[in-house]
Amino acid sequence: MGAEIAFRLNLVHGRCVGVRIPAEVDEKILAELVPEERGFVSTLASARHPSWVAGRLALREAFRDLGIEPGPILATRRGAPALPADLGGSISHKRTLAVGLAGRRENDASIGVDLEACPPVFASVEEARAQARPDLRTRVLTQDELARLKSVPEKDHRRMVTLHFSLKEALYKAIDPLVGRHVAFHEASLTTLPDGSASIVLALSEHDGSFAATAFWTEVEDHFLTTARVQRA
Ligand SMILES: CC(C)(COP(=O)(O)OP(=O)(O)OC[C@H]1O[C@@H](n2cnc3c(N)ncnc32)[C@H](O)[C@@H]1OP(=O)(O)O)[C@@H](O)C(=O)NCCC(=O)NCCS
Repeated sequence: MGAEIAFRLNLVHGRCVGVRIPAEVDEKILAELVPEERGFVSTLASARHPSWVAGRLALREAFRDLGIEPGPILATRRGAPALPADLGGSISHKRTLAVGLAGRRENDASIGVDLEACPPVFASVEEARAQARPDLRTRVLTQDELARLKSVPEKDHRRMVTLHFSLKEALYKAIDPLVGRHVAFHEASLTTLPDGSASIVLALSEHDGSFAATAFWTEVEDHFLTTARVQRA
């Protein structure tokens, strides 16, 4: 493979492969794509090529680990990876790393993955205050989540906000294909648990129907790696 595999993990919601994003997409890496994908990537702005290609390679490799050949992975009209109806898959990329989460689709469930760089561990409350992101906190957290944050030591707040952000992005990627609309951060309220799971209360519109959702997180290479699975209840 032209691109470098960073890790392969079996997660609760599927097989996950991490691929290092190349500085540039050369012929050797392009050759890893299937022809339809090479055609698709040529329509994107060149700045998107490295992360788009690494995401596709990560997702295809995750399917291959499961013994599945998914065919070309293009994009839905809403931007999600387009896959055959019996497969579920999701992609995330940050500066240097792309991940793909893959599985067989059961009970019409949908899966999502997200990657966020872990904030530094602050040595003191003063340092944490200097680096705080109050704008992100109020944009991402519901009133319930803000109340729960009060029981967390202040120097860990930024880390908790980033973890909630990542879990909600993974949840968004799982739920958007089911409801076909933008879902706001305040439409889900999470409680993160020490075992790496999160309990989720959804507050969607009644037109969307009702859903059961689960989410998990772990840390890999200084990133939060989060996954979500959503299905109609
Ligand atoms: C779409 C969104 C989730 C992408 O997240 P991001 O952190 O900016 O970027 P990431 O690298 O993690 O993910 C990008 C990948 O998400 C996937 N994606 C994009 N739109 C998607 C959608 N509507 N549904 C599912 N997956 C989608 C794509 O695979 C994309 O990568 P690609 O274009 O290379 O294939 C984000 O920009 C967004 O719009 N969020 C909406 C608000 C939200 O999260 N609400 C929380 C509700 S609980």
